[in-house]
Amino acid sequence: MHLERIDHVGYAVTDLEEAIAYHRDLYDLTVVHRERVERDGVAEALLSVGESYIQLLEPLSDASPVARFMQRTGGPGIHHVGYGVRDVAAVLDELKQQGIRLVDDHPRRGSRGCTIAFLHPKSAMGVLIELVEDPTLGSHAATLDA
Ligand code: CO
Repeated sequence: MHLERIDHVGYAVTDLEEAIAYHRDLYDLTVVHRERVERDGVAEALLSVGESYIQLLEPLSDASPVARFMQRTGGPGIHHVGYGVRDVAAVLDELKQQGIRLVDDHPRRGSRGCTIAFLHPKSAMGVLIELVEDPTLGSHAATLDA
């Protein structure tokens, strides 16, 4: 298994516009992508930092996993870390063989056209980990073609 990079760090925030303004004013970071991800119950903004991103996540409702995270932890903070991999399906197979507990047994669609899957924090040293396959960075299929 090979991790290519830290794709993003996901922050739970209560107010997306306020969080965007904070990062713009303090760090001069700009928004490169915005999306409402209904399935995960969040409004997302991606801020570019080098070859990685800060992913700001505002819950769309109290039932959103990000809202529940903030209820549990007492407020905004680091919600998850996204590891960039070439082939989420292949990494999931390896993790299953090693008995690692997963949130997503199968790869699924994430934001910005990525394929993603989450590992369970109980099997990941207490940190929610997301695997991210970004098709714009060269997919597994593209690698095989090369
Ligand atoms: Co993420």
